This record gives sequence, structure tokens and C-alpha cells, in this order.
Amino acid sequence: MNSSFQFFPEQASATAQHVDHLAIYLIVVATIFSAAIFMLILYFAVKYRRRSEHERPHATPEPMALEMAWSIIPFGLMIVMFVWGASIYFEMARPPNDAMNIYVVGKQWMWKTQHLEGQREINELHIPLGRAVRLTMTSEDVIHSFFVPAFREKFDVLPGRYTTAWFKPTKAGKFHLFCAEYCGTLHSGMIGSVYVMEPAEYERWLAGGAGFESLVSSGQKLFEYLACANCHRTDKPGRCPNLVGLFGKPVLMTGGENFTADEAYIRESILNPSAKVVAGYQNIMPSFQGLVTEEDLLQLIEYIKSLGQKPESASPATGAIPPALERRGTAGGPTSRSTGRRPEAQKR
Ligand code: CUA
Repeated sequence: MNSSFQFFPEQASATAQHVDHLAIYLIVVATIFSAAIFMLILYFAVKYRRRSEHERPHATPEPMALEMAWSIIPFGLMIVMFVWGASIYFEMARPPNDAMNIYVVGKQWMWKTQHLEGQREINELHIPLGRAVRLTMTSEDVIHSFFVPAFREKFDVLPGRYTTAWFKPTKAGKFHLFCAEYCGTLHSGMIGSVYVMEPAEYERWLAGGAGFESLVSSGQKLFEYLACANCHRTDKPGRCPNLVGLFGKPVLMTGGENFTADEAYIRESILNPSAKVVAGYQNIMPSFQGLVTEEDLLQLIEYIKSLGQKPESASPATGAIPPALERRGTAGGPTSRSTGRRPEAQKR
């Protein structure tokens, strides 16, 4: 910050300027109208004050033009607010297709961020300049709110649910990250920094995280470890739906409804499998509630997503799943977990 006082925080995202222009419009309209109303109150209080006990006002004909003016002008101003606000809302609600995905998990009292390449950060987020970033966020406990004033980005982070937000940083530097939802004793300490780096510098930072395993790869290990492939087979018809090519597709349920297999659907299917049973299958999957953390879920989701991106998805029955999964023994379901070894990436 150059000046000692700024009316608005620094603008560091593509949307920041749009939000500020709307805010200025709202402030200007509100100020002009407040001032006009207060001046008129004063003026009329003096002009039409009671001068004697017996004074009675004359009947006043309704001036149609005036009535129309003070209905139509504010209506027009409000419509501008609505249309302008809605267009910014839609802009902020729809991440571009090429946005990079980053996961955010809030918990009392820290922000955990996770890159697809595997890098994990606490109370920090490193992102490249000029690239749209899409955050998929959830909470381990209570409601938090991911707030980066310089990006004009504030979005609630809710337990048991995924919310998404996106922004495109337009300025390199370090920016404040706050929690904007009162979440307990150390709410005020739930702060961090977003580092916007030049793309080359970001690549170096990303490469420096050797030892981190990509989300897809740790998700695959977890998938094996939890013995998911016992039922979700890909080589032959299994007792449970084949997950190859599932992500983003509509799925028909026993009840006849259709759901899109998005992040929220997969999360629910792991934690509460009986909520939505795919048509043609039995409700036999055990719940993994309490067995997997929010971060585990993100890894499993990324792994399942990756199954849909295999180029050879035309023949999903062969070779679309890494051989490691096929080699899995017949060890039981989640109950055998205590005997198994937790995949390396899970520690933390
Ligand atoms: Cu988290 Cu306030």
C-alpha cells in the first residue's frame, strides 16, 4: 500500500474493479438520496410548520408528474443495481473452464489448502499470476468463510458440503486471507496469506515440493487401501457401479431420478451410500463416515475424476484402471483397515 489511507482495499483480481464500481454506484446513489431526503425533511419542517391553533391545510391536487417521477426514477436506479449486481454475481459464480483447481479445507482454526500436484499448505496459498483459480472448499467442523479482500472474494465454507469460488489474480504479491465467519475462540487468528507469483516462479515453487504425491496418486492408494476396487470392479461386472468415466455424467437412481456425478455426489456416496442408490444395484455399500477425513475424500474424488479422463475410456473394461488395483488381494472392506498400512500421504 502506498498511501496511508485507502477507501477500498487494493485491487488484485479481475473482478475487483467490477465490484468496486458497483459499490461506488451504490454509495453515490445512497448518499444523494439520503442527503436529499434529510434536506427536504428540514425544509418542509420549517416551511409547513404550524403557525396557529386554527390553521388547516388546503386540499392539494395530486401532481401526477411528480408522482410519476418519484416512482419511475428510483425504480430505474434499483433496476440498474439489480442488473449490474446480478451480472457480477454470475461472473463470480461461473469459473472459466480452464481454471486450475485447488482444494480448501477449513477447520478450527486454520486454512488447509491443497494443490492437485500434491502440495499442501497451512494458512498459505501460492498461486500463479493471471491464471483463473477455482477453489473447492469444505469445512471439518463449523462454518468458516474464505475472505481475500484484495480479490473481493468472500465465500462461506460449510461442513458437509462443497462450495466453490474462483478468482483471477491480476497482481503479484502477498495478500491477506481472513476467516469472515465467527467460528469460535480463535476465529480472529484464522488468518493467512495468498501469494500471487509470476508463473515461472510458481512453477519453481511447485517443483520445490518434492516428496508430495499428486492427489490422484494418493487417492488411488487410498482407493486400494480401503478396498474399494473389490466391488467397484472395472475388469468385469461387479457388485457396484463401474467408476470409470463416471465423473460429470448423469447417473440414474433406483427411484428413477437422475443426478450428476459431481464432487458433492461422490462425497455423499462415500459417506452415506444409501442416500442415492444407482439403478440396477443393491444398497450394499457400507458407509465410510468416520473412516475418511475431508482431505481423504478430496483425494478419492480426484482419483475418480482421473478415471474419467483416461484417453482409452472408449473401452473402460480394459486397462483403464492401473494394474495395481487389479492386483489387490481379496482383503475385506473398510473393516480390515486397522490391519492395513495407511498410505504415506495420509499422515499429517
Ligand atoms: Cu473460521 Cu472464523
